[in-house]
Amino acid sequence: MKKVTISDLMKWKQEGRKFATSTAYDASFAQLFESEEMPVLLVGDSLGMVLQGQSDTLPVTIEDIAYHTRCVRAGSPNCLLMADMPFMSYATPEQACENAAKLMRAGANMVKIEGGDWLIDTVKVLTERAVPVCAHLGLTPQSVHILGGYKVQGREQDKAERMVRDAIALQAAGAQIILLECVPRDLAARITEVCDVPVIGIGAGNMTDGQVLVMHDMFGISANYIPKFSKNFLAETGDLRKAVAMYKDEVERGAFPSHAHTIA
Ligand code: KIV
Repeated sequence: MKKVTISDLMKWKQEGRKFATSTAYDASFAQLFESEEMPVLLVGDSLGMVLQGQSDTLPVTIEDIAYHTRCVRAGSPNCLLMADMPFMSYATPEQACENAAKLMRAGANMVKIEGGDWLIDTVKVLTERAVPVCAHLGLTPQSVHILGGYKVQGREQDKAERMVRDAIALQAAGAQIILLECVPRDLAARITEVCDVPVIGIGAGNMTDGQVLVMHDMFGISANYIPKFSKNFLAETGDLRKAVAMYKDEVERGAFPSHAHTIA
């Protein structure tokens, strides 16, 4: 696979070409994803749940993410690699810089942070210091105890309007990707339309520029449960490599997520 950069993703957005993303946590799967030409990989703090067996992502540390980022980079030298900044690792812009540097040194091309307009200064400070940022909106799992559970976000008009404003403000501050988790399809479509930067969705319908899945959900092996918006591609194909190829193909054709995997 040729090296993937943010310029490729921008070009794909302009061309209306959809792209797939998966989480990855180790070199072997990263190599499998690279050989199937998965352009973007995410070392998600979901590793707290799918690898460590925790009940949420809060116990994950910056050292955990840096370790898995090094593993994934070793297996996939050419993907655009995003790494999650874990809970409380970017509470201030200063902390964000210090911790983002650890992930960039471990091989990340971009860091992902969860939250709305309170992150504007942090996004500015990071991007001015050469750290590309993906801003994660909608269901932000690090806020599970504030949100009162893993719930769809942006159903109410005022919350939806606020999410649109946040996406625009974070983009203006320098965010180069917006990620939307568990938001209604129409809201995700609107944010994708108003943003110039690529928008990646999970549980956000098929109108976003890209899709992301937690790899354990893609293979139907999550310890706890499979979300409604996910699909077990391994059950469809009976083979890991074919499952990855099928996921990528369905995303690129706009066939996944289908109506059955969409939040209205
Ligand atoms: O941690 C993660 O895997 C994520 C995805 C669900 C987007 O943030």
